[in-house]
Amino acid sequence: MSEKGIYTASNASGDYHVPVMLQEACDWLVTNPDGTYIDGTLGGGGHAAEILRRLSPVGHLIAFDEDKEAIEHARERFRDEMQASSPRITICHSSFLCACSIKRDGKPQAQDFWGILLDLGVSSRQLDTGGIGLSYRVNSHLDMRFGSRDKPPASELIATTKQGDLEHILRKYGEEPLAKVIARRIVEVRRVAPVVSTFDLRAIIESCVPQHKLQQTLSRVFQALRIAVNNELEVLEQTLYGIVPRLVRGGRIVVLTYHSLEDRVVKRVFQDLAKQRTLSGSTQPLSLGSCHTADATTPKFAEPQVRILTKKPLVPRAEEISINPRARSAKLRVAEKC
Ligand SMILES: C[S@@+](CC[C@H](N)C(=O)[O-])C[C@H]1O[C@@H](n2cnc3c(N)ncnc32)[C@H](O)[C@@H]1O
Repeated sequence: MSEKGIYTASNASGDYHVPVMLQEACDWLVTNPDGTYIDGTLGGGGHAAEILRRLSPVGHLIAFDEDKEAIEHARERFRDEMQASSPRITICHSSFLCACSIKRDGKPQAQDFWGILLDLGVSSRQLDTGGIGLSYRVNSHLDMRFGSRDKPPASELIATTKQGDLEHILRKYGEEPLAKVIARRIVEVRRVAPVVSTFDLRAIIESCVPQHKLQQTLSRVFQALRIAVNNELEVLEQTLYGIVPRLVRGGRIVVLTYHSLEDRVVKRVFQDLAKQRTLSGSTQPLSLGSCHTADATTPKFAEPQVRILTKKPLVPRAEEISINPRARSAKLRVAEKC
């Protein structure tokens, strides 16, 4: 099959989302067709379908998404696999952080999984429909929460966060050079009227940023708020540390990132897990949020826990980017449990 054929065929999920680096990610992930795997970011189910295609009848996929719409779509898409006499996929409406604490038959199993895939960020559907307020192109409520209603929506964050902290969020999670100007303008505007919609926020940015910088600034500001609202970087870090004890030897962690902040977290945690350590370090408690694993700790290991298989991140081929421009910023990193 030509490369073009591969990438065209990968759009099997219709227009929900075109999976990025589909074959490469699954080549790295699936090394034992009889194993149990985690897809932490189900989305439109493109990667999940390819993983299932590679598994034998005894292999199993446990798939997570925090987004209710993604879960409904996947339950429809994988109805046959779920209803088979021995189901091949389990779909969980929760954060991928919960993969670290899955229990089977009521008992935790120390080493369960042959691999986990995290394809971070947002799906095309989430951007195109604007449902949860992730896109500055569609007017909707400025919510930005993928799932849990326990945390405040972006509109509340904007209403209640001090100017200096807003500036910090924009700088830290958006690497936004105009963070100070934008934070000041947000505070001026919210004194007069609440900022409740994506277009309210867009109008604020338009009023204080030069036209030629507008598109990039809008992307960075929306990204920053989304990361802050969903606590994305902390959840990613906790999941990478927390999943390692659940992998079999040779099991793999495959992560696709779409911006440098995420990629840096993956690189740093992989390097940390790949280090030789002494056991004298203190053991720090690891909070797994709503996933209830009080006994989980950040482990301090004597031996390296993983081997890094991608010294440099892999990127999509030009052919894929020409067919799916949303793939252009993707980076793929892989580590293997020692
Ligand atoms: C890029 S899309 C995944 C696309 C998917 N691989 C496919 O082939 O269609 C990312 C998905 O991850 C979900 N997501 C983001 N953070 C999450 C988290 N902490 N836990 C579970 N799902 C999450 C989003 O709701 C979104 O549906």
